[in-house]
Amino acid sequence: MTAESAEDVPLADHPDVNPTRGQWYDRSLAYLEDEVADHREALVADVDGQVLDLGCGTGTAFEQFPEEAEVHALDPERDYLAWATTKTDGVHLAAGQAESLPYSADTFDAVVCSQVLCSVDDVPTALDEIARVLCSDGRLHFLEHVHSDGVAGHVESVLTPLWKRVADGCRLNRDTLSRIEASPLTVTDVERLSLGRVPPTTHIRGAARQVDD
Ligand SMILES: C[S@@+](CC[C@H](N)C(=O)[O-])C[C@H]1O[C@@H](n2cnc3c(N)ncnc32)[C@H](O)[C@@H]1O
Repeated sequence: MTAESAEDVPLADHPDVNPTRGQWYDRSLAYLEDEVADHREALVADVDGQVLDLGCGTGTAFEQFPEEAEVHALDPERDYLAWATTKTDGVHLAAGQAESLPYSADTFDAVVCSQVLCSVDDVPTALDEIARVLCSDGRLHFLEHVHSDGVAGHVESVLTPLWKRVADGCRLNRDTLSRIEASPLTVTDVERLSLGRVPPTTHIRGAARQVDD
Protein backbone atom coordinates (compact mmCIF):
# COMPACT_ATOMS: atom_id res chain seq x y z
CA MET A 1 0.00 0.00 0.00
CA THR A 2 1.24 3.51 -0.67
CA ALA A 3 -0.55 5.37 2.14
CA GLU A 4 1.15 5.31 5.52
CA SER A 5 -1.46 3.35 7.34
CA ALA A 6 -2.40 0.57 9.69
CA GLU A 7 -1.54 -2.97 8.76
CA ASP A 8 -4.29 -4.84 6.96
CA VAL A 9 -6.34 -6.60 9.60
CA PRO A 10 -5.11 -10.20 10.12
CA LEU A 11 -8.54 -11.79 10.40
CA ALA A 12 -7.10 -15.26 9.99
CA ASP A 13 -5.44 -14.76 13.39
CA HIS A 14 -8.78 -14.25 15.10
CA PRO A 15 -10.58 -17.59 15.40
CA ASP A 16 -13.40 -15.94 17.36
CA VAL A 17 -14.43 -13.81 14.41
CA ASN A 18 -17.91 -14.63 13.14
CA PRO A 19 -18.50 -13.53 9.52
CA THR A 20 -22.09 -14.80 9.60
CA ARG A 21 -22.87 -11.78 11.81
CA GLY A 22 -21.87 -9.66 8.82
CA GLN A 23 -24.13 -11.70 6.53
CA TRP A 24 -27.01 -11.18 8.95
CA TYR A 25 -26.24 -7.46 9.08
CA ASP A 26 -26.45 -7.21 5.27
CA ARG A 27 -29.78 -9.04 5.22
CA SER A 28 -31.26 -6.88 7.95
CA LEU A 29 -30.40 -3.66 6.10
CA ALA A 30 -31.29 -4.88 2.60
CA TYR A 31 -34.64 -3.07 2.76
CA LEU A 32 -32.86 0.29 3.05
CA GLU A 33 -29.94 -0.54 0.79
CA ASP A 34 -32.13 -0.30 -2.34
CA GLU A 35 -32.59 3.39 -1.65
CA VAL A 36 -29.21 4.18 -0.12
CA ALA A 37 -27.11 2.54 -2.85
CA ASP A 38 -27.64 5.23 -5.50
CA HIS A 39 -26.82 8.01 -3.07
CA ARG A 40 -23.69 6.24 -1.82
CA GLU A 41 -22.61 5.66 -5.42
CA ALA A 42 -22.98 9.40 -6.12
CA LEU A 43 -21.09 10.14 -2.90
CA VAL A 44 -17.99 8.24 -4.00
CA ALA A 45 -18.26 8.80 -7.76
CA ASP A 46 -15.43 11.34 -8.00
CA VAL A 47 -13.05 10.22 -5.27
CA ASP A 48 -9.58 9.15 -6.32
CA GLY A 49 -6.10 8.72 -4.91
CA GLN A 50 -5.87 7.45 -1.34
CA VAL A 51 -9.38 6.99 0.05
CA LEU A 52 -10.56 5.93 3.51
CA ASP A 53 -13.96 4.20 3.80
CA LEU A 54 -14.45 5.00 7.49
CA GLY A 55 -16.87 2.69 9.30
CA CYS A 56 -16.97 0.46 6.24
CA GLY A 57 -19.12 -2.18 7.98
CA THR A 58 -19.45 -5.19 5.72
CA GLY A 59 -17.96 -3.41 2.70
CA THR A 60 -21.20 -2.54 0.95
CA ALA A 61 -19.50 0.42 -0.71
CA PHE A 62 -16.46 -1.42 -2.02
CA GLU A 63 -17.82 -2.17 -5.49
CA GLN A 64 -18.96 1.45 -5.86
CA PHE A 65 -15.53 3.08 -5.60
CA PRO A 66 -13.93 4.21 -8.88
CA GLU A 67 -11.06 2.02 -10.11
CA GLU A 68 -8.61 4.93 -9.73
CA ALA A 69 -9.10 5.00 -5.95
CA GLU A 70 -6.80 3.07 -3.64
CA VAL A 71 -9.26 2.19 -0.91
CA HIS A 72 -8.48 1.71 2.77
CA ALA A 73 -11.35 0.67 5.00
CA LEU A 74 -11.68 0.71 8.77
CA ASP A 75 -14.30 -0.54 11.19
CA PRO A 76 -14.27 -1.57 14.87
CA GLU A 77 -16.29 -4.74 14.20
CA ARG A 78 -14.05 -7.62 13.17
CA ASP A 79 -17.09 -9.78 12.38
CA TYR A 80 -18.17 -7.24 9.76
CA LEU A 81 -14.63 -6.92 8.41
CA ALA A 82 -14.43 -10.70 8.03
CA TRP A 83 -17.54 -10.64 5.83
CA ALA A 84 -16.18 -7.59 3.99
CA THR A 85 -13.12 -9.60 2.93
CA THR A 86 -15.44 -11.77 0.81
CA LYS A 87 -16.33 -8.68 -1.27
CA THR A 88 -12.84 -7.49 -2.18
CA ASP A 89 -9.29 -8.49 -2.84
CA GLY A 90 -8.03 -4.94 -3.33
CA VAL A 91 -9.19 -2.98 -0.29
CA HIS A 92 -6.82 -2.57 2.68
CA LEU A 93 -8.85 -3.45 5.77
CA ALA A 94 -8.04 -2.40 9.31
CA ALA A 95 -9.81 -2.70 12.65
CA GLY A 96 -10.08 0.53 14.61
CA GLN A 97 -12.12 3.48 15.80
CA ALA A 98 -12.80 6.83 14.13
CA GLU A 99 -11.77 8.55 17.38
CA SER A 100 -8.23 7.20 17.09
CA LEU A 101 -7.38 6.59 13.45
CA PRO A 102 -4.32 4.38 12.94
CA TYR A 103 -3.00 6.49 10.05
CA SER A 104 -0.42 9.24 9.73
CA ALA A 105 -1.38 12.88 9.20
CA ASP A 106 -2.01 14.02 5.59
CA THR A 107 -2.57 10.48 4.31
CA PHE A 108 -5.90 10.61 2.46
CA ASP A 109 -7.29 12.51 -0.51
CA ALA A 110 -10.80 11.60 0.62
CA VAL A 111 -12.50 10.18 3.69
CA VAL A 112 -15.94 8.67 3.12
CA CYS A 113 -18.48 8.40 5.97
CA SER A 114 -21.64 6.61 4.93
CA GLN A 115 -24.12 6.11 7.80
CA VAL A 116 -21.34 6.13 10.38
CA LEU A 117 -21.30 9.32 12.45
CA CYS A 118 -24.69 8.35 13.97
CA SER A 119 -22.89 5.48 15.74
CA VAL A 120 -19.61 7.11 16.73
CA ASP A 121 -19.48 7.89 20.47
CA ASP A 122 -17.23 10.95 20.32
CA VAL A 123 -18.02 12.79 17.07
CA PRO A 124 -15.88 15.94 17.69
CA THR A 125 -12.80 13.77 18.27
CA ALA A 126 -13.61 11.65 15.21
CA LEU A 127 -13.92 14.80 13.06
CA ASP A 128 -10.60 16.11 14.43
CA GLU A 129 -9.08 12.78 13.44
CA ILE A 130 -10.61 12.93 9.96
CA ALA A 131 -9.19 16.45 9.51
CA ARG A 132 -5.78 15.20 10.68
CA VAL A 133 -5.54 12.31 8.20
CA LEU A 134 -6.87 14.33 5.23
CA CYS A 135 -4.35 15.98 2.91
CA SER A 136 -4.51 19.78 2.74
CA ASP A 137 -6.82 19.65 -0.30
CA GLY A 138 -8.63 16.51 0.87
CA ARG A 139 -12.36 16.17 1.44
CA LEU A 140 -14.76 14.40 3.74
CA HIS A 141 -17.70 12.95 1.78
CA PHE A 142 -20.66 12.21 4.03
CA LEU A 143 -24.02 10.48 3.74
CA GLU A 144 -25.67 10.38 7.14
CA HIS A 145 -29.15 10.06 8.56
CA VAL A 146 -29.93 12.96 10.89
CA HIS A 147 -32.59 14.23 13.26
CA SER A 148 -35.78 15.03 11.34
CA ASP A 149 -37.92 18.10 11.94
CA GLY A 150 -41.37 18.05 13.56
CA VAL A 151 -43.21 14.96 14.71
CA ALA A 152 -40.81 12.59 12.99
CA GLY A 153 -37.94 14.14 14.94
CA HIS A 154 -39.84 13.74 18.19
CA VAL A 155 -40.46 10.06 17.42
CA GLU A 156 -36.75 9.61 16.62
CA SER A 157 -35.80 11.07 20.02
CA VAL A 158 -38.23 8.80 21.84
CA LEU A 159 -36.96 5.72 19.99
CA THR A 160 -33.25 6.50 20.21
CA PRO A 161 -32.45 4.97 23.65
CA LEU A 162 -33.91 1.61 22.60
CA TRP A 163 -32.67 1.83 19.00
CA LYS A 164 -29.15 2.58 20.18
CA ARG A 165 -29.13 -0.68 22.09
CA VAL A 166 -30.35 -2.88 19.26
CA ALA A 167 -28.62 -1.13 16.35
CA ASP A 168 -24.94 -1.01 17.25
CA GLY A 169 -25.07 2.40 18.97
CA CYS A 170 -26.94 4.21 16.17
CA ARG A 171 -28.62 7.47 17.32
CA LEU A 172 -31.68 8.36 15.25
CA ASN A 173 -31.75 11.93 16.57
CA ARG A 174 -28.21 13.15 16.02
CA ASP A 175 -27.67 16.60 14.46
CA THR A 176 -24.59 15.52 12.54
CA LEU A 177 -24.44 18.55 10.24
CA SER A 178 -23.92 20.91 13.22
CA ARG A 179 -21.12 18.65 14.44
CA ILE A 180 -19.37 18.81 11.06
CA GLU A 181 -19.86 22.59 10.90
CA ALA A 182 -18.26 22.91 14.35
CA SER A 183 -15.25 20.79 13.31
CA PRO A 184 -12.00 21.93 11.68
CA LEU A 185 -13.62 21.16 8.30
CA THR A 186 -15.71 23.54 6.16
CA VAL A 187 -18.91 22.20 4.60
CA THR A 188 -18.80 22.95 0.87
CA ASP A 189 -22.08 21.39 -0.17
CA VAL A 190 -24.97 19.62 1.49
CA GLU A 191 -28.30 18.25 0.35
CA ARG A 192 -31.16 17.05 2.57
CA LEU A 193 -32.85 13.85 1.44
CA SER A 194 -35.74 11.73 2.63
CA LEU A 195 -34.88 8.03 2.39
CA GLY A 196 -36.65 4.86 3.43
CA ARG A 197 -40.34 4.15 3.62
CA VAL A 198 -41.21 2.78 7.03
CA PRO A 199 -40.50 5.31 8.38
CA PRO A 200 -38.82 7.79 5.99
CA THR A 201 -35.70 9.28 7.57
CA THR A 202 -33.90 12.54 6.88
CA HIS A 203 -30.42 12.16 5.42
CA ILE A 204 -27.72 14.63 4.50
CA ARG A 205 -25.32 14.06 1.63
CA GLY A 206 -22.42 16.42 1.06
CA ALA A 207 -18.75 17.26 1.38
CA ALA A 208 -16.46 19.21 3.67
CA ARG A 209 -12.89 20.30 3.08
CA GLN A 210 -9.88 21.31 5.08
CA VAL A 211 -9.69 24.97 6.01
CA ASP A 212 -6.50 26.58 4.72
CA ASP A 213 -4.33 28.07 7.45
C1 LIG B 1 -24.75 1.57 9.51
S1 LIG B 1 -23.14 0.93 9.39
C2 LIG B 1 -22.59 1.64 7.85
C3 LIG B 1 -21.67 0.76 7.06
C4 LIG B 1 -21.23 1.30 5.71
N1 LIG B 1 -20.47 2.52 5.84
C5 LIG B 1 -22.40 1.50 4.78
O1 LIG B 1 -22.60 2.59 4.23
O2 LIG B 1 -23.13 0.51 4.55
C6 LIG B 1 -22.25 1.81 10.63
C7 LIG B 1 -20.84 1.30 10.83
O3 LIG B 1 -20.13 2.20 11.69
C8 LIG B 1 -19.27 1.44 12.48
N2 LIG B 1 -18.84 2.20 13.66
C9 LIG B 1 -19.48 2.34 14.85
N3 LIG B 1 -18.74 3.09 15.69
C10 LIG B 1 -17.61 3.42 15.02
C11 LIG B 1 -16.44 4.16 15.37
N4 LIG B 1 -16.29 4.71 16.58
N5 LIG B 1 -15.47 4.28 14.44
C12 LIG B 1 -15.61 3.74 13.21
N6 LIG B 1 -16.69 3.03 12.82
C13 LIG B 1 -17.69 2.87 13.73
C14 LIG B 1 -20.09 0.21 12.83
O4 LIG B 1 -19.29 -0.87 13.27
C15 LIG B 1 -20.78 -0.06 11.51
O5 LIG B 1 -20.06 -0.96 10.72
